[in-house]
Amino acid sequence: MKSEQRDCLCGELEESFVDREVVLCGWVQRRRDHGGVIFVDLRDRRGLVQVVFDPDRAEQFALAETVRNEYVLRVTGKVRLRPEGTRNLDLPTGAVEVLGLKLTILNSADPLPFQIEDAETGEAVRLRYRYLDLRSERMQRNLRLRHRLIRALRHYLDERDFVEIETPVLTRSTPEGARDYLVPSRVQPGQFFALPQSPQLFKQMLMVSGFERYYQVARCFRDEDLRADRQPEFTQLDIEMSFIDEADVMSAMEGMMREVFSSVLKIDLPDPLPKLTYAESVRRFGTDRPDLRIPLELVDVADLMAEVEFKVFAGPASTPGSRVAVLRVPGGASLSRQQIDSYTELVKQFGAGGLAYIKVNKLSDGIGGLQSPILKFLPETVVSELLDRVGTEDGDLLFFGADRERVVNDSLGALRICLGHDLDLVTPGWRPLWVVDFPLLEEDAEAGRWVALHHPFTAPHTEDEVHLATNPGAVRSRAYDMVLNGTEIGGGSIRIHQRAIQQQVFAALGLDEEQAQTRFGFLLDALRYGAPPHGGIAFGIDRIVSMVAGEGSIRDVIAFPKTQKASCLLTEAPGDVDNDQLRELGLRRATPVRPDGTAMG
Ligand code: AMO
Ligand code: AMP
Repeated sequence: MKSEQRDCLCGELEESFVDREVVLCGWVQRRRDHGGVIFVDLRDRRGLVQVVFDPDRAEQFALAETVRNEYVLRVTGKVRLRPEGTRNLDLPTGAVEVLGLKLTILNSADPLPFQIEDAETGEAVRLRYRYLDLRSERMQRNLRLRHRLIRALRHYLDERDFVEIETPVLTRSTPEGARDYLVPSRVQPGQFFALPQSPQLFKQMLMVSGFERYYQVARCFRDEDLRADRQPEFTQLDIEMSFIDEADVMSAMEGMMREVFSSVLKIDLPDPLPKLTYAESVRRFGTDRPDLRIPLELVDVADLMAEVEFKVFAGPASTPGSRVAVLRVPGGASLSRQQIDSYTELVKQFGAGGLAYIKVNKLSDGIGGLQSPILKFLPETVVSELLDRVGTEDGDLLFFGADRERVVNDSLGALRICLGHDLDLVTPGWRPLWVVDFPLLEEDAEAGRWVALHHPFTAPHTEDEVHLATNPGAVRSRAYDMVLNGTEIGGGSIRIHQRAIQQQVFAALGLDEEQAQTRFGFLLDALRYGAPPHGGIAFGIDRIVSMVAGEGSIRDVIAFPKTQKASCLLTEAPGDVDNDQLRELGLRRATPVRPDGTAMG
C-alpha cells in the first residue's frame, strides 16, 4: 500500500529492489556504529531491513548518530546488494541493504523499560508497557495468527449461510458456572446488569426467531479463579443451529476445524474425529479432557483387590463410588526413590493418601523380579493376575490409586500427564477428539444440591428423561466437548426446546416455579411460541490460538489481557471511583476509603 509518507515496506525488500530508490518508515530496532559507518535496523509491520549511513553525506550521518532504539524514522535510500560475506541468511531481507540518502526523525523515544526482543523480561513489566511488548516479533506473530484464524472461521461460516448477530453485553445473568460481573444501573438504582458469561440464551432466542444458523465472535465474562487458560474476559466463537441433532452439529464443527486448521495452520486433523463417552474417558484417562498424545492409561483392578489383606486397596475395592486403578508406566522402573516421592506429593495435592507402586525389574523371575513395599500384602495369584491384566513388561513401573473415584481420577489423571512429559512419552502432533454423553447434573457436595454440568438448557437424552425426578445423577446429557491435546477447546449441546422438559430440569436443579420464572421467565415464555429443535457449540478462541501459537498461556494471544489477579497492569483497572459516581448509582462502600484509595479501619 502506498502512502504519502513511504512507498514500500522494510520487510518486503529483496534482490529485485536493487538500485531502486525507496522511502521507508519504521522504528529503530538497533543502531550500530561500525568502522565509520552507522547501521540502523529499521522495523515496520512487515519486518526488518538494514539501513547504512556513511560519512560521505555528513549531514545525514550526523543525524543518524543521534538516533536511538525505537526512534521513529523516515528514510529515503537506495537498495543495494550486501557485499559478499555480509549477507544475513536469518533475515528475509538479508541479501540487501538500503544506503541512507535522506533521514527524517519523525519522533524520538525515551530509553525503554525493557528490550523488546529480550525473552527474559518479566510478564509484569511486559503487561505494564503492553504497547511496547506488542512490538515484539512474537506478539505481532501471535495477534496476526489470531486474526487469520478468526477470519478463516468467519469465512467458513459465512459461506454456509450462518449470520453473525451481536447480542447484548449489558444483560441478565447467564449461568455457565462462574460468578457474574455486575454493572449497576443508574436509571434504576439498586438494580444490576450482569455481563454475559456467554450469549447462550440470546442465541437460543435467535433460533426461536427463525435465523436457523447463527454465529458470533463473542466476548464472555466470568469471574472465576484464573489460570493459564482462563481469563475473566475471553472470546468465544459462538454457534447455534436449528433442525439438527448432535451428529449434525459435530460433523459440521469438526469439518470447520479441519478446514481452518488445514488452510491457516497447515495442520491435518483426523477425519472423523474420534469420539469417547464421558464414562470411558474418565475410566481410561481419569479426566473428561484426555490428552491422547500420552500413551498411558488407567486400568481398573478393584475386583482383584476386594479380598486382599492390604486395607488401603481392599477398602475402596469394595466401596461403591470408590475405585482402585493402576497406571502402567513403561520404563518407569528406573525412576528413583526421590522421583517417586515427588510424584507422591503430586497425587496428595488431589487428596490421595499415597502412591503405592510396584517396580517390574524382571518378569521371568516371578515375584522375585518385582520390587515394592506392598508386595507382602498381596497374594501371588492376585499379583500375577494384575500383571496380566495391565500387560506388564520388564522395566515397567505400576502406580496405584485407591480412593473415592474423584480422588483416583484426579490424582492418577494428573500423574499421567506429568509422567508423560517427564518421561518424554508425549507423541508430537494434534490429537483432537469429542467427548460425549456427559452426566446432565452433578452433585455439589458443599451446597447439597444438583448443578448442571454444562448449563441448565442442555437437553437430557430422551430415554433418560424419566429419571430426572427420581435419579438425576443417572441422566446423560446431549452435550459434546471438543478436546485438543488435553485442553477443552469447545463445548456445546442440543438444547431443551420443550417447555415442560425445561421446567423439569429447573426443578431437578432445585429451582421452584417462582424462581425459575423470575430468572428464566423469558426463556420459558419463548419456548411457548414454536421453538424449533436446536443446538450449538462455543469454541474458546483464545485457547485454540494459544495452542497453535505454541504459547503456554492465553495471555500471550490476547492484546490486553488481565493478570492472575484479574487486573490490567496497563490501565490499572479495576480502579477506584468517585463518591459522586457511587451516589448516582445508589451505591455506598461497605468499607470507607481514604482519598488515596486505601481502605479505612
Ligand atoms: P463453555 O462454558 O464450555 O460453553 O465455554 C466454551 C469454551 O470457551 C472456553 N472458555 C474459556 N476460555 C478462556 N477463559 C475462560 N475463562 C473460559 N471459559 C471457557 C473453553 C470452552 O470450551 N454457552 C456454552 C456453549 C454452548 O453450549 O453452546 C458455553 O459457554 O474453550
Ligand atoms: P501405608 O500402609 O500407609 O504405609 O501405605 C503403603 C503404600 O501405599 C505407600 O506406598 C503409600 O504411598 C501407598 N498408599 C497409601 N494410600 C494410598 C492410596 N489411597 N492409593 C494408593 N496408594 C496408597
